[in-house]
Amino acid sequence: MEEIMRLFPNEMRQAILTKIGDRWGSLQEIRIRLFQPVELIFDRTMEWLPMLKPSKEEGIFIINQLSEFSLYRMTDELREGYITIEGGHRVGIAGRVNTSDGSVKALQYITFFNIRIAKQKIGAARNILPYMYDKSYMNTLIVGPPQTGKTTLIRDATRIIATGWKNVQAHKVGVIDERSEIAGSINGIPQHDLGYRTDVMDACPKADGMMMMVRSMSPEVLVVDEIGSEKDIAALMEAINTGVTVICTIHGKDLNELIRRPSLQMVFKQRVFERIIVLDRTREPSQIRNVYDQNLKQMIQKSGYVHI
Ligand SMILES: Nc1ncnc2c1ncn2[C@@H]1O[C@H](COP(=O)(O)OP(=O)(O)OP(=O)(O)O)[C@@H](O)[C@H]1O
Ligand SMILES: [Mg+2]
Repeated sequence: MEEIMRLFPNEMRQAILTKIGDRWGSLQEIRIRLFQPVELIFDRTMEWLPMLKPSKEEGIFIINQLSEFSLYRMTDELREGYITIEGGHRVGIAGRVNTSDGSVKALQYITFFNIRIAKQKIGAARNILPYMYDKSYMNTLIVGPPQTGKTTLIRDATRIIATGWKNVQAHKVGVIDERSEIAGSINGIPQHDLGYRTDVMDACPKADGMMMMVRSMSPEVLVVDEIGSEKDIAALMEAINTGVTVICTIHGKDLNELIRRPSLQMVFKQRVFERIIVLDRTREPSQIRNVYDQNLKQMIQKSGYVHI
């Protein structure tokens, strides 16, 4: 975790390290707010460091570390509101926003940091792969409320598909990684293991990226996280029409809610997705609640987990 700890000045680093102890495995976020106690979010608890209230100077230290001494380099990232650092960790930032003609130009004073610890869970997708493959990969939609493990699953699915499993050979996978979250790329180089046959279009808007990837790298499987807008759906339909298999995720509570969503009408009418996998919020992340086929017929009940 050296790549995270190097963000902090010495004193802060020591205090945070001591508080975390041997709990790195369950640490999700470190939240820094100038003049407020540092907050640590673990899988099951949230804790404060009441005596550790970062000063302005400490804030500047963190920004300098994030930018590796070149704020200019970060102009685009600063506008996006987050920076990806080595290891694929993402640091969300907030503060005073500069606007020009009503659109965000830059973040001027950065006073809030949310350091999201990236954790690749190797094997997280092993249980869902059998649902996504039947002689060939199937167009698959992974549905879940926030924090149910959608991105983690799609990342591991990418790795497995591009590596091969059982007697399924490795496929060419194209990842459109708009928020640099799947691959955690830095300067285009993935920080997570995505298998041998994966190409990544990093920091690229999904709708543009899908067809760019199809044209440039002829993937067999296209992976996209968090589709949502009508533009995304149109690009997705276009990609599927070229014959590529799409595996993507979407925020949603359950199938009934999705079916009613106006932007998805065409998707359901044309039965685009051959598998719809709904994740469960009540258990640990990455747990399957239901799997539906192309005709929206339920394939498993709650406890029907499959192991490969
Ligand atoms: N199989 C798993 N085992 C343990 N922890 C997991 C697993 N899958 C996900 N997590 C953890 O759960 C948290 C949420 O995971 P993730 O970001 O993949 O969810 P998400 O559904 O994509 O969230 P969001 O809706 O915010 O995009 C992360 O801290 C992640 O490390
Ligand atoms: Mg996600």
